[in-house]
Amino acid sequence: MFSSVGEENKAKGSTLLYCAPVVSAVCVFVGGMGSENTLVRLLKWVTLFTVLFFIGFIIGWCARPVTTHHEEPDHLQEFLDEIHAENIKQHLRKFTRLPHLAGTQQNLRLAEQIRDEWLAFGLDSAELVWYDVLLSYPNRTHPNYISIVDQHGDEMFNSSLSEPVPEGYEHVTDIVPPYSAFSAQGRPQGDLVYVNYGRTEDFFKLEREMGINCTGKIVIARYGKIFRGNKVKNAVLAGAKGIILYSDPADYCAQGVEPYPAGWNLPGGGAQRGNVLNLNGAGDPLTPGYPAKEYTYRSKLKEGAGLPKIPVHPIGYHDAVHLLKNMGGASPPPDWRGALNVSYRIGPGFTDDFILNKVRMNIHTYNQVTRIYNVIGRIRGAREPDRCVILGGHRDAWVFGAIDPVSGAAVVHETVRAAGALRQRGWRPRRSLIFASWDAEEFGLQGSTEWAEENAIMLQERAVAYINADSAIEGMYTLRVDCTPSLHTLVYDITKLVMSPEEGEERISLYESWHKRDNWTNNRDAPRISKLGSGSDFEAYFIRLGITSGRARYTKNRKTERYSSYPVYHSVYETFELVERFYDPSFQRLEAVGRVRAGLVFRLADALIIPLDCKEYARSLTQYANTIQQLALEHPEAIQRYGVTFEGLFSAVDNFTQAAADFHQRLDKLDTKDVLAVRMLNDQLMYLERAFIDPLGLPGRPFYRHVVFAPSSHNKYAGESFPGIYDALFDIENAADPDRAWDEVKRQISIATVTVNSAANTLHPVA
Ligand SMILES: *[C@@H]1O[C@H](CO)[C@@H](O)[C@H](O)[C@H]1NC(C)=O
Ligand SMILES: *[C@@H]1O[C@H](CO)[C@@H](O)[C@H](O)[C@H]1NC(C)=O
Ligand SMILES: *[C@@H]1O[C@H](CO)[C@@H](O)[C@H](O)[C@H]1NC(C)=O
Ligand SMILES: *[C@@H]1O[C@H](CO)[C@@H](O)[C@H](O)[C@H]1NC(C)=O
Ligand SMILES: *[C@@H]1O[C@H](CO)[C@@H](O)[C@H](O)[C@H]1NC(C)=O
Ligand SMILES: *[C@@H]1O[C@H](CO)[C@@H](O)[C@H](O)[C@H]1NC(C)=O
Ligand SMILES: [Zn+2]
Repeated sequence: MFSSVGEENKAKGSTLLYCAPVVSAVCVFVGGMGSENTLVRLLKWVTLFTVLFFIGFIIGWCARPVTTHHEEPDHLQEFLDEIHAENIKQHLRKFTRLPHLAGTQQNLRLAEQIRDEWLAFGLDSAELVWYDVLLSYPNRTHPNYISIVDQHGDEMFNSSLSEPVPEGYEHVTDIVPPYSAFSAQGRPQGDLVYVNYGRTEDFFKLEREMGINCTGKIVIARYGKIFRGNKVKNAVLAGAKGIILYSDPADYCAQGVEPYPAGWNLPGGGAQRGNVLNLNGAGDPLTPGYPAKEYTYRSKLKEGAGLPKIPVHPIGYHDAVHLLKNMGGASPPPDWRGALNVSYRIGPGFTDDFILNKVRMNIHTYNQVTRIYNVIGRIRGAREPDRCVILGGHRDAWVFGAIDPVSGAAVVHETVRAAGALRQRGWRPRRSLIFASWDAEEFGLQGSTEWAEENAIMLQERAVAYINADSAIEGMYTLRVDCTPSLHTLVYDITKLVMSPEEGEERISLYESWHKRDNWTNNRDAPRISKLGSGSDFEAYFIRLGITSGRARYTKNRKTERYSSYPVYHSVYETFELVERFYDPSFQRLEAVGRVRAGLVFRLADALIIPLDCKEYARSLTQYANTIQQLALEHPEAIQRYGVTFEGLFSAVDNFTQAAADFHQRLDKLDTKDVLAVRMLNDQLMYLERAFIDPLGLPGRPFYRHVVFAPSSHNKYAGESFPGIYDALFDIENAADPDRAWDEVKRQISIATVTVNSAANTLHPVA
């Protein structure tokens, strides 16, 4: 559909046509040779030889690849075939021998190694780019732990200080113990309240239905369902003075699977590290909006963006049993029970027998401005070097990070190797390619956000697309893609060119395998593609800058596997052996994901016409407008009373749909030899995503500027469509001032309307 190869063949055909008369003339000449004397005959032969030489030259000249206005031969398949499972395995092995925590020497060494190898692979350039950002580490001499104290203040139980180290890694030093990065320091002591997953709805239930007041309490929440930073924010809002996060087997153990190393479940001594910031896209907490360079103003630590005000600490389920088993208070609702052999009572505090016991948190984690390093590699585009496509993923890991992020980083490494190999055979993409190994993603997407801030103006003028490359696998079932709607068609096209990695499916494409396993039946007969949320490095590119973005990875069966993310997520058990023995023994799944990511980047960088589909955007906008209207219609009386209407929004969506259809008609008729016309339409395609950016940002979230997509205010991992309207409607039945609340709904609908209609206008031809 988007291939320009056909055009090129047509061009060759027409130049060959011009050569035909010359060939006929020679035939007549040779046919006319009769009985002449030797000299004349010799002369004729010399002439004939000369003429034939010129004809040969002319034919050769005519038949040479015509490249002035057209694409080089398509190298996509060659590029995909260059990506090999065995190489990905070797990269994964090499990058997971040691921990690579952001801000450490080991992660700098790895950055230098990656830079050097990228140069050796054949990139035009590769360099380290540093920033000085706020990171957070546990105090080496003053460990963090949680205890149960008796009435004398003696610590009768202490949670473990580290995870049991897996076999073969006993010699490794510098394994950071489980901690919550950016936790406040302190030793709060008090009664415990069990808050289920710590979601907004869980706190509503506690406060509104159970009458539990969390003020001055320490809350304990199970990991899962939502981003941990949202749990912490909710705990702070509820007045808690500390929050303990634990992994319940209900959420971190799959049925019938053994704990690592016998299987891939989380062992009882394992715990999930992770940052607990509420950055809302700010990047470095001390330099929101600007790159953290030597000349940059830094705010005071107290004013740092997104830093929690209370201590936070993660524990495993063996430790959690000790805290939960003697809790008193009300029985939990059935869906609040996990899989431990405890009552899951809500509290506050312990049962009568243990009423004098309290829980104490001992947290000494400290914040420190630390240097981080991105690796940026480039291949200059042959025709449009001022347009770029970015493939970026993080390098920093909590410990060995075999899944998060190295399964992704190994795939990026192999993609760079493949691109370098083609480059050394003389290929150059039409547009420039940028490869990025981001640092400090685990500390709040910092490396990627700082680079986006330093290059914001350049990127908004020149970036065609950003493809993210975090963990390439989180399950063993099928493909998972989250992307902006205009990428849907390209994703389907690429997955039809990649073979299924599943055993017994050697003859079917990844598309067919994916379609069979995750059919998007509520929308269309095609594999499911989801909205982008956040929680990885595409955030600044997509939601702040409005750059077309997408991500792909291998995932679990969402219908039957109920656990959160993958069981050993962010634990010491994310080892090379975990991937090699359980997730992808043949490395075919990582190879397939690698080829999808590489194929997307290749087509976006090399196709004559940027392979984006505006009609898919129209289709999604229609669906989102319907969804948000349905949500509002749950309040029929208020809608009437306040005169809330979605007519304008639907009119804008209709205008967009018409503009998209017209645009693609013009695209189909485009004279691909007309370089300026091609560039004009490509600019419209490139800037379409930018059209959804509101420079003023969403209410209270200035770095979330995309009017159609934002991370949910209640779960950073999830994407929300028309987030401004959604947030205005959220819990509106309990609004303190309904007049104001509904006024805000109307304001948000009007912002969405203006934005969608403006986006439609960018697709119109110039009047
Ligand atoms: C770690 O804790 C010790 C006290 O045990 C303290 O003296 C030291 O300053 C702390 N280190 C940091 C980096 O905060
Ligand atoms: C818990 O740790 C504290 C501080 O190291 C120590 O005094 C106490 O005895 C420990 N309690 C248990 C039960 O190990
Ligand atoms: C919760 O308790 C605090 C102090 O103990 C009090 O100030 C606050 O009003 C209470 N909240 C509710 C909703 O009762
Ligand atoms: C659950 O705990 C109770 C009391 O703590 C114990 O009697 C029972 O044997 C335990 N059940 C299982 C299945 O471990
Ligand atoms: C997907 O679902 C549709 C509607 O239920 C069905 O017609 C189609 O056969 C399914 N496709 C696959 C590949 O299972
Ligand atoms: C949609 O386009 C029509 C025709 O140009 C225009 O009158 C209308 O105002 C547009 N809708 C919106 C919401 O701008
Ligand atoms: Zn990651």
